[in-house]
Amino acid sequence: MKLKRTHYIGELNNTFIGKEVVVSGWVLRRRDHGGVIFLDLRDRSGLLQVVFEEGLDPEIHDLADSIRIEYVISVKGLIRRRPPGMENPKIPTGEIELVAMEVEILNTSKTPPFPMDEDLSEISEAVRLKYRYLEMRALDGLKPFIFRHQVNQTIREFLNSKGFLEIETPFLTKSTPEGARDYLVPSRLYPGKFYALPQSPQLFKQILMVAGVDKYYQIVRCFRDEDLRADRQPEFTQLDMEMSFVEESDIMSVVEELLAYLFEKALNITLETPFPKLSYETALKDYGTDRPDIRFDMKLKDLSFLFKETSFKVFRDALDSGGVIKGLKAPANFSRKELDDLIKFAQELGAKGLAWIKYNKNAFSFEEKWGSPIVKFFDRSILEKLENIFNPLEDMVTFFFIADKEEIVNSVLAELRIHLAKRLNLIPENKFSFVWIVDFPLFEWDDEENRLVSVHHPFTHPKEEDIPLLDTEPLKVKSRAYDIVLNGIEIGGGSIRIHKKELQEKIFNLLNISPEEAQEKFGFLLTALEYGAPPHGGIAFGLDRLIMLMLGKKSIREVIPFPKTQRAQCLLTGAPSEVKIEQILELHLLPGWEKKKT
Ligand code: AMO
Ligand code: AMP
Repeated sequence: MKLKRTHYIGELNNTFIGKEVVVSGWVLRRRDHGGVIFLDLRDRSGLLQVVFEEGLDPEIHDLADSIRIEYVISVKGLIRRRPPGMENPKIPTGEIELVAMEVEILNTSKTPPFPMDEDLSEISEAVRLKYRYLEMRALDGLKPFIFRHQVNQTIREFLNSKGFLEIETPFLTKSTPEGARDYLVPSRLYPGKFYALPQSPQLFKQILMVAGVDKYYQIVRCFRDEDLRADRQPEFTQLDMEMSFVEESDIMSVVEELLAYLFEKALNITLETPFPKLSYETALKDYGTDRPDIRFDMKLKDLSFLFKETSFKVFRDALDSGGVIKGLKAPANFSRKELDDLIKFAQELGAKGLAWIKYNKNAFSFEEKWGSPIVKFFDRSILEKLENIFNPLEDMVTFFFIADKEEIVNSVLAELRIHLAKRLNLIPENKFSFVWIVDFPLFEWDDEENRLVSVHHPFTHPKEEDIPLLDTEPLKVKSRAYDIVLNGIEIGGGSIRIHKKELQEKIFNLLNISPEEAQEKFGFLLTALEYGAPPHGGIAFGLDRLIMLMLGKKSIREVIPFPKTQRAQCLLTGAPSEVKIEQILELHLLPGWEKKKT
């Protein structure tokens, strides 16, 4: 390199007028105005117009002439004020330009597969992910990652100030059950044995509490082989925390303080704390889900009691077979076509149908007020009660009802609620609504496995007062777990843990894990619990999800530098890929073949 950079572009401004600088970067745009060449040069920090004027040394001019888009160059020149009328108020360096004196081409570039100076959202994600480095280098492409860097630093700054220790835990380890499939790594030295990549550092962080660490955190990669969605990746990052000698409220207040600090610093937004709390039961009742978006109201209502006496067969049948009827109110009128689409939407989510009634507050007659093919099944008093239940009513309203098993009613109405709110623009933008979900059940019944399974993980402490129910009605036992939900997305979850061996063994037993299996899988934890484990608890955040929401992005892939596709592939490297047969044999993955080979 002949020309050594003196400044980042972002540092330059009017105060540099008349000064000589050397800048380095990539050519975003190039314009040739009959002998005068303009280049827009950019580095990580900004964009600068460079001018090669007529009358330059012909050698330098020719060199400049050969420069194409995305070439890597260094330019030495003088900063001057742009001629009047040529300013660009859109960029910080819009009042100045660099008059080139010397240029060095550090590398050429092929023409990029997409424009580097336009919004790339129309470009297929497959192409963007294959050339992720170009997408990142494109205008504003690094923004999410610079933001993410700042978030990490702010989190560390806060937790360090509170006395947390950042401690690393292994990746090559034993299975930690968090409800997904493990990624396994075959052991070369121990034929037939495998490491598992951690689904979370759960057991290590608990053991760190036994070790006396007292306050731990880690920004850590976790691995889960599960079906992917917009907010799920096979490897993702947790902000993982654990504290000793604490109760739920201690963890919640540290978390609230941390988030308030983070939002203030990173987004200049003041969060209101403490965050509201909803019991699991209320969340399901009012929103149909344990991840409610509480930025808008539109609560579900249980109408089973109201429609008890109805002659509408669909409702009757559902109630007779132990189901429920719930409904919600959308403050809008819909066309027949729109209603048909909504019915289809509900059916695709598993409902048998979607009943609706239109309501016009200002209609003169009863017939005009209530519109629906099913109104005839309900007498006036039922409709009046409906009016009361959903009071206050807007002028034009459409009620939607689903009758089915409770789980289906809840899950479909929860989705319908979000769908309608988006469509009707009822969700306030730039609002961050956090809510804690508490009082989860400890177990749920798994029909397929025909056994109890943990709602969170098996290390979650039951509520003290419910411990006697473990022996009699385990499904009634509530846990000391809490999830934190932001704008309808679960961004974190945690609990107070079991710190006594006997209780932990009892839970394993209830989960149908035999003492031998418990010993084999979690013996190290059970042993550690025998050596003075303090009461402890913690939480883990999905950091990708939190950052996605802070930046208003739709997918965590946008805030992960090198994400995988929905099909768990890395389009940049081509992983997963085939390996040589020698490697497979060396890992003893084809038992018997080693011998044949030799
Ligand atoms: P949990 O399994 O709830 O808890 O995970 C914590 C948070 O991690 C995020 N998350 C994910 N993000 C992206 N892709 C995924 N595949 C994915 N899976 C989970 C979610 C979730 O809330 N050990 C416990 C925490 C604890 O008890 O302290 C745990 O891992 O935002
Ligand atoms: P049907 O009698 O099947 O023609 O249904 C009459 C209306 O009830 C239609 O609008 C259906 O979409 C709706 N419907 C059917 N099944 C259900 C259900 N389980 N819950 C709510 N509405 C339903």
